[in-house]
Amino acid sequence: MSLVTLNDLEKALKRKALADRLGRIGRQYLVMSGKGGVGKTTVAVNLAAAKALSGARVGLLDIDLHGPSVALALGLTGRPLSSDEDGRLTPLTLESGLKVVTIQGLLKSQDEAVIWRGPRKIRAIRQFFSEVAWGDLDYLFIDAPPGTGDEPLTALEMLADVRPLVVTSGSRLSIGDVAKALNFIKIVGRETFGLIDNQSWYVCPACGQETAIHDRLAAARLAGEFAIPLLASLPLALEVAHSAEEGRPLVWSRPGHVFSRMVAELAAKL
Ligand SMILES: Nc1ncnc2c1ncn2[C@@H]1O[C@H](COP(=O)(O)OP(=O)(O)OP(=O)(O)O)[C@@H](O)[C@H]1O
Ligand SMILES: [Mg+2]
Repeated sequence: MSLVTLNDLEKALKRKALADRLGRIGRQYLVMSGKGGVGKTTVAVNLAAAKALSGARVGLLDIDLHGPSVALALGLTGRPLSSDEDGRLTPLTLESGLKVVTIQGLLKSQDEAVIWRGPRKIRAIRQFFSEVAWGDLDYLFIDAPPGTGDEPLTALEMLADVRPLVVTSGSRLSIGDVAKALNFIKIVGRETFGLIDNQSWYVCPACGQETAIHDRLAAARLAGEFAIPLLASLPLALEVAHSAEEGRPLVWSRPGHVFSRMVAELAAKL
């Protein structure tokens, strides 16, 4: 006769609670990259905002525990997360019903540093799924820190159906690191949903001329090497940078801007 310990029972209940929560979340996209500063947060925030604008029920989760920037990009700094009567975290709800959870909402001050090692980080990310009252969502976008560390690994391991969206620019520095991230996704047995090229070209606001900043074909070549789709090639634009500073995604403040139109087209593919 096998003996079921209290510990086993607790673990089984936790697994069941997690499976129930995840069952209410539709498509999950993990926005990641081997490279820092390529625009993961910008892409995640604008994609989530575009999907919410189209009427879908959307969640956005920041798992960049050491450098969360979703709160800044959405003007949410200083807004703490609260809990419901069952002790579950309640996401912040923005216009178009976009629900947002970021560790920034749990910190005592804006500049507080999170000094956690692997196991603590893994636990925190698990709690973002199992102990957040997400409710029913059509889409959940997850913004990962750069690289192939605990955060993206935990998300890929925990979420059986998560689809990785990998962001790159056309620079050689970016392409090399992003190839590592694409290999990492393969090694953990997942398929990259698609590659997104960001900031490889620029439209002059004065004359409208398009200029390549990096090799505009580099991302397409990388996608070809890994046999994955190149989903979009988003321009660098001053308005995108300004919108992040102002805390309002460009797809909301300037839906007619070329960047916003391209993000909306990309969102329609997801
Ligand atoms: N297409 C774009 N046009 C102009 N500025 C952009 C664009 N994409 C991103 N940026 C700007 O580049 C900077 C880095 O972008 P972002 O924070 O989204 O990158 P990241 O990959 O999430 O960085 P990290 O690796 O630190 O998480 C920000 O100031 C952002 O506003
Ligand atoms: Mg980021």
